[in-house]
Amino acid sequence: MENITPYKESADDKKKQVADMFNNIAWRYDFLNHFFSLNIDKYWRRKAIANLRNQNIKSVLDIATGTGDLAIEVYKQISPDKIVGIDISDGMLAVGKEKLKKMNLDQYITLKTGDSENIQFPTASFDAVTVAFGVRNFAHLTVGLSEILRVLRPGGKLVILEFSKPSVFPVKQFYTLYSKYILPLIGKIVSKDKAAYTYLPESVKAFPDGSKLTDIMREVGFTDVSYNILTFGIVSVYIGSKK
Ligand SMILES: C[S@@+](CC[C@H](N)C(=O)[O-])C[C@H]1O[C@@H](n2cnc3c(N)ncnc32)[C@H](O)[C@@H]1O
Repeated sequence: MENITPYKESADDKKKQVADMFNNIAWRYDFLNHFFSLNIDKYWRRKAIANLRNQNIKSVLDIATGTGDLAIEVYKQISPDKIVGIDISDGMLAVGKEKLKKMNLDQYITLKTGDSENIQFPTASFDAVTVAFGVRNFAHLTVGLSEILRVLRPGGKLVILEFSKPSVFPVKQFYTLYSKYILPLIGKIVSKDKAAYTYLPESVKAFPDGSKLTDIMREVGFTDVSYNILTFGIVSVYIGSKK
């Protein structure tokens, strides 16, 4: 897998660059998310978390939680006893904490600094792990997935929401033009980070989607692995379990 980084001229490793990039764009992240997706991102998160309904899930770890939108969706749909969100970008977490406070959800959802590649929780400590638009940004995908498997309890479930590549005409052609020209231009102007919204389509292009990702999940040790596409394949939801 090609290692795409945000700042090509930088000597920092991918993890540091990704954290710096999200720190830079945190103040505009939520706005641009909803703007670029015409608010459809909210529907994507709803569909992803619907996979956790009616399963008696008491504890959820939301990895790469960013500003906390997926953790909030977990609260809305299944209200487990414990929701923890971790992220390597303190800038994103700061925006998320402010949002939780405003929504009066800070007593239900805890956000803290944490790396998917070295998760600071004991083995088998969560009933479910969720990741939205995060795995593509991991510096080492299989290390992150192995850590997720470790912290899941036996029978626990992983839900991943991630961009994929639409393949149907004319969505594919429109999406290619949109992500190559429109998204980087508007992203640069609004977020004031030159690289972030060029990195986004480049990282989507290089990332293993569909059956390539489910193969990797199986190799890492997940069972009952499956995926389904949403919105013509612009995103996909991947499910896996720990035996
Ligand atoms: C596109 S944002 C997604 C945020 C949120 N999940 C959402 O749905 O809007 C990706 C997040 O992944 C985080 N991230 C990247 N690599 C990470 C890692 N190794 N461990 C934890 N978080 C990571 C970034 O800091 C960033 O906040």
